[in-house]
Order: sequence, then C-alpha cells, then structure tokens
Amino acid sequence: MIPTREECLRLMGEYGMLENIVAHSLEVARVALILSIELNKKGQKIDLGLVEAASLLHDLTKTECLKTKEDHAQTGSQLLKGIGYERIGEVVAQHIWVCKEGDPSSVSEEEIVNYADKRVMHDRIVSLEERFSDLKKRYGKIDRSMDYLERLQKEIYGIENKIFCILQMNPGDLRNLHLDRNW
Ligand SMILES: [Fe+2]
Repeated sequence: MIPTREECLRLMGEYGMLENIVAHSLEVARVALILSIELNKKGQKIDLGLVEAASLLHDLTKTECLKTKEDHAQTGSQLLKGIGYERIGEVVAQHIWVCKEGDPSSVSEEEIVNYADKRVMHDRIVSLEERFSDLKKRYGKIDRSMDYLERLQKEIYGIENKIFCILQMNPGDLRNLHLDRNW
C-alpha cells in the first residue's frame, strides 16, 4: 500500500515536522522523482509512487529524534510499517545506509531515495562533495564519526556512478533537469 502525495503531506503535518525538514523532504522528493523518471526512460522499472512517498516521509520522525537521539531511519520505518505502509518503511529504513548489495545493472527505490537525500542540502541541490563536506563539519568531530562518513561517502559515490552511467549524464547535469508532473 502506497499513500498518495496528499496523504503524505497530511502525515508530515500530523507528526509536527520542523518547517526546514519539510522543505528538505519536498526537494528530496522532487529530485528523486526527476532521477527516477529519467532512469525509467532508460529501461529501469522504478516505482514512482513509492519513490515520491518514501522521499516525502523519509525524515518523518527526525524532528522528534533530535530530542530523543534515536535513529530516525529506524523509528520512521517502524512507524510507517505500523500504520500499514510496509514497503515505504523498508525504503525509509535505508535512507542513511543501503543495506542490500546493489544490483550493478538496476537501481532500486532504496538507492534513489538515499542518493537524492545526499544531493539535497537543506532545500537545494548540491554535489556529493559539498554535502559531505558540510556533514563532516557538523558531525565529523570525533574520529569514529569521520570514519563512518568516509565509508558512507564511498558507498554513495558507487550509487552515483551507477545512476549516471545509466543516464549517460554527469552528476552536475541534475540541476538542468525539471520535473514533469505528468508521469
Ligand atoms: Fe534523514
């Protein structure tokens, strides 16, 4: 079961997400859809409704987790599964780390949402380099966090290579693509 965009926006309001996290999520959803539509033109079979809903809801519990220090990928996933959105919950669980070994020739909804989240800093498109340099400044003060971010960065560059090889574009071209709402 996949919620509509309207239902996602209603849930975002209901769970009291901070305004800046809502703005971030709207932009992640836009970027994730743009990429998915282009990838589907190249023969991928990405579920657009799933990508949009999971992107909108990926940080659903982040506002609360800023206080509780819980892992918002996990609590968000549990919450969504608990209200019947099993598949959305699976994608949200992997928006920080993609757990499954990726298929080299196909892009999953998990990879798209994960990657789009890394290309959107606050509510604007940036390069992975810029996003990670900001994350390292904010969270990399201790060695363990820096190590974690380095590993995460390596993984995301792998996803980026796969996506843009299929699209036959450069990652920087993302800024020139526009969302066609007629999908
Ligand atoms: Fe997040």
